Amino acid sequence: MEISTERLAPGDAGFDRAASILRAGGRVAFPTETVYGLGADARDDRAVASIFAAKDRPSFNPLIVHVENVEAAGRFAELGPLALRLAETFWPGSLTLVLPLAPNSSISQLATAGLETVAIRVPASPVAHALLARFGGPVAAPSANPSGRVSPTTADHVLAGLDGRIEAILDGGACPVGIESTIVDLTDRARLLRHGGVASEAIESVLGTPLLPPPPSEDARPSAPGQLSSHYAPRATVRLNATEADADEVFLGFGPGLDSAQNLSAAGDLTEAAANLFAALHRLDQSNVKRIAVAPIPETGLGAAINDRLRRAAAPRG
Ligand code: TXA
Ligand code: MG
Repeated sequence: MEISTERLAPGDAGFDRAASILRAGGRVAFPTETVYGLGADARDDRAVASIFAAKDRPSFNPLIVHVENVEAAGRFAELGPLALRLAETFWPGSLTLVLPLAPNSSISQLATAGLETVAIRVPASPVAHALLARFGGPVAAPSANPSGRVSPTTADHVLAGLDGRIEAILDGGACPVGIESTIVDLTDRARLLRHGGVASEAIESVLGTPLLPPPPSEDARPSAPGQLSSHYAPRATVRLNATEADADEVFLGFGPGLDSAQNLSAAGDLTEAAANLFAALHRLDQSNVKRIAVAPIPETGLGAAINDRLRRAAAPRG
């Protein structure tokens, strides 16, 4: 059913309106520093279900719960010493921790997919923070894109996929990090579940030990079913590690010395490339490009997260 999506500006009136929509069980897309999230009250089964409906997303995927600060996180999850140390260093910011659910936690079982764990983070975006503070509760939010498509880093990207399917969007401009949060599971030994906006090297240096790698096979990780192989997919096909474009391709470059108008970072800066990645894929989709050839990206720092998203964009479509 088509509804009319309110476009709200950040500011007292917009935050109040967004919070009251959340309180009434509605969906509000909002900017975080990573990507736009599609938020709803994480304690409200119907509201969480309506997120899946808007995204056409398989409902067994657990969602990330966004909270205002570490105290709020402690109401819903058990933060042990390692979690507290990572939270102190990286929150607010682009790190999601998978932790045991707190006893009597009020989080909807739909948001956790019935697991005894919860993925939780404190976003750094001031707009996200203002919304969480006004609302005063936990907000479940996957990225605000139709399932399987490229994540949104601007309000226009969100509306291109979800206009008429959600109650409102808070327009906070472009997301500065541009790639989703890093996910670390601390329920057993610290394990990286998804590369993202905080480099795994930075997390390891705080932990003082290496992170265990993500479980190798997709089938072997029922606890993170969001990791489908074709994901973050633009409409165009994607070819990786290209040194130049074939005649029927558009080149997406990285680093200096390229005439190409499409360059993730002419300076060869991985942070800048992460911030530009999804916007570049959205732009190429909008200009109806059919084939994209992408330059090699170094696998260090944020390069690991960029390459993970590019491999999924290049994976065979289901
Ligand atoms: O940057 C981000 O993380 C964005 C913004 C909006 O915060 N959110 C985001 O959410 O990327 P989503 O739903 O697209 O990805 C959530 C990931 C999925 O891969 C899911 O499987 C995993 O988190 N996840 C959630 N709860 C989990 C849990 N209890 N155990 C393991 N993985 C979990
Ligand atoms: Mg997503």
